[in-house]
Amino acid sequence: MEVERVQSIASKSKLSNTIPSQFIRSENEQPAASTLHGVVLEVPVIDLSDGKTASRLISEASSEWGIFQVVNHGISDEIIAKLQRVGREFFELPKEEKELIAKTPESGMEGYGTSLHKKIEGKKGWVDHLFHKIWPPAALNYNFWPKNPYYREANEEYAEKLLEVSNKLAKWLSLGLGLEDGELKAAMGGEDIIYLMKINYYPPCPRPDLALGVVAHTDMSAITILVPNEVQGLQVFRDDHWYDVKYIPNALIIHIGDQIEILSNGKYKAVYHRTIVNKERTRMSWPVFLEPPSDLELGPISKLVNQQNPPKYKTKKYKDYAYCKLNKIPQ
Ligand code: SIN
Ligand code: FE2
Repeated sequence: MEVERVQSIASKSKLSNTIPSQFIRSENEQPAASTLHGVVLEVPVIDLSDGKTASRLISEASSEWGIFQVVNHGISDEIIAKLQRVGREFFELPKEEKELIAKTPESGMEGYGTSLHKKIEGKKGWVDHLFHKIWPPAALNYNFWPKNPYYREANEEYAEKLLEVSNKLAKWLSLGLGLEDGELKAAMGGEDIIYLMKINYYPPCPRPDLALGVVAHTDMSAITILVPNEVQGLQVFRDDHWYDVKYIPNALIIHIGDQIEILSNGKYKAVYHRTIVNKERTRMSWPVFLEPPSDLELGPISKLVNQQNPPKYKTKKYKDYAYCKLNKIPQ
């Protein structure tokens, strides 16, 4: 059965100025009622070119916030602009062309799709997406990549640069835990860490006061590295309120995910976040999830636990963690 895409629902809604009821969130989730307006949250902004301070600042931000932005990260504005352009061009293709790389029951996460949260959440998010791996090379399946040759070039250039950034982050996070510089990366899967690209496409929504893009969650990855477009929409939960995260051109937004919280035995916190949508403009974002290989077991790193600090989390295979999270089974 073909799934109706939010992009096509959005074109109809524009004419009627209403949205279908499955997108209307419960009152306590509606952005109009639950956002602290006029206050833009200044999550830490860290200059990665300053090696002397970066490690301490990253470790503090990961303990206190679970989210921070990085600038002077070494990925040029041109590489980011190209990644964004080819991604936007994909979503602007005619429907039939996008459906050529749609998810299939066998494709796992990869492909073009629309989340069917309905069964679990009772509500849908105002967003379509595309998922495909961008690293390591042996894990790639180009069947789920848009066919435009510039798409592949842009994503491969971005992946190469992103690897350098993520290696630095992992090193600094590791040092912040009092570990050797390579230990955290090794515990996340080392050279087998999977880099999963997602593009979120949030079309204009006539009732942004009632709908959500992505519902509140923490990422189950180890780390997520995201670039948004210029349309504001990411919100973070702090002190009982939702706050907008300021858009900084070409900064990377770093989310600490569940696996780093677990490996660090709770020193680093996975950030609770969600996205809202815009009445007139299309928001897009490009998160890359750093995921451990599915059979790797993750739990608090043994050097970080002792009798005074017992493990706060179970040790389990990443695939088992993911299964419980996706099916809302307690971990
Ligand atoms: C997400 O958390 O999945 C999306 C974040 C964003 O679009 O900024
Ligand atoms: Fe997320």
